[in-house]
Amino acid sequence: MAIISASILAADLTNLKGEVERVRPHIDEIHLDVMDGHFVPNLTFGYPMCEALRTFTDMPIDAHLMVTNPDELVEGFVQKGANRITIHQETCYHLHRSVERIKSLGAQAFVALNPATSLSTLDEILPYVDGVLVMTVNPGFSGQKFIATMNDKIERLARIRSDKGYNFKIAVDGGVGNENALMLVSLGVDILVMGFGVFRNPNLPQLRERLK
Ligand code: DX5
Ligand code: ZN
Repeated sequence: MAIISASILAADLTNLKGEVERVRPHIDEIHLDVMDGHFVPNLTFGYPMCEALRTFTDMPIDAHLMVTNPDELVEGFVQKGANRITIHQETCYHLHRSVERIKSLGAQAFVALNPATSLSTLDEILPYVDGVLVMTVNPGFSGQKFIATMNDKIERLARIRSDKGYNFKIAVDGGVGNENALMLVSLGVDILVMGFGVFRNPNLPQLRERLK
């Protein structure tokens, strides 16, 4: 079954704890979008937010690092309770070293790809990753429109996985909701990251049932 990872960027942040408790029965993980105002044109959460989430939830937390210096932040997020660290291919000079370090800290290592970055840039790292996050919007904001040409990229990634016998998970992030979630799962997606699709979706319970 594909799982739902809830991006709190789309929650009502004046009531974060209440928001997470409200959607809790219908989600599997928390997705924490860490943005630095350099790699992406928005500035969001840091260690204190990860720590705050840990005070009221024991769900897995994925720290999606949209920052120019991810290597400097990895250890801190693991210490604050993140179970998975997602780093961008575009920000790592030594991606293999970065991935191996995340795993050595006891967290899952996922690598994210921007929409315009070719899948071929991951050829050499795929044997080492726990997952690939295919960005289906340009990172920076919740509530953007899904880029439909990413479907082909996801299909190719799923084909490489089965051809080579790899075990990594495929995640998608951006513009995912009621209209496209099941189609994405049929292409091979395991983890649906959703902001609006979770926190601003009156049909979330039905969507979760359909995914089951
Ligand atoms: C975009 C973030 C996403 C975003 C998803 O840069 O990485 O996680 O919050 O939000 P939706 O699902 O609303 O597009
Ligand atoms: Zn994200």
